[in-house]
Amino acid sequence: MSESTLNNLEDLNKYWQENCTCELKNTATRAVFGNGNNKAEIVFIGEAPGKKEDETGIPFVGAAGKFLDEMLESIKMTRPNIYITNIVKYRPRNNRDPEPKEKEACKEWLHQELNLISPKLIVFLGRHSMNHFFPDLKISNAHGKLVIKNIPGINTKYFLPLYHPAAALYNGGLREELMNDFKKIPIALKKIEEKIKIS
Ligand code: URA
Repeated sequence: MSESTLNNLEDLNKYWQENCTCELKNTATRAVFGNGNNKAEIVFIGEAPGKKEDETGIPFVGAAGKFLDEMLESIKMTRPNIYITNIVKYRPRNNRDPEPKEKEACKEWLHQELNLISPKLIVFLGRHSMNHFFPDLKISNAHGKLVIKNIPGINTKYFLPLYHPAAALYNGGLREELMNDFKKIPIALKKIEEKIKIS
């Protein structure tokens, strides 16, 4: 299998699982692939797998994932409606932040994954995810605001930064902000569909 023939997620994951040079591979139990609907209109991008994700191989199945499911339900969505993945596909030990070289090593995998799905909207869960694409934005200011921008090599141009559910889980203020921001997802999607109709 060569990189140029990766036209479905299964082949893509197989290829990168073998060829990804991320050093976290040495300590993680397994790669945690993106999960959900490969024709989804919305892709959520988190930071990196945690303990539960490393055990199961499924993204966002721990406490943050349960909170995420509640918020999805509040906007009448479920996991099968969306696709969810991470910047880094391997768990950093003790859940430390992923390092720049680890993000860089997983970058092509993520970008090819996004382009296979080509969603209408990409939702960033937290600053790591947002800063991967928009290094100058601050999550405290950018959260809940739709960003429209062409990024070379990425098919999607609509992005919505949100706080990470794990950060909001035990912080009442952030929790409320995140729950309010979540309601902006269907609004953003409608706005994008209108723009697509016009253009
Ligand atoms: N946090 C993340 O960013 N990703 C996961 O998959 C789980 C928790």
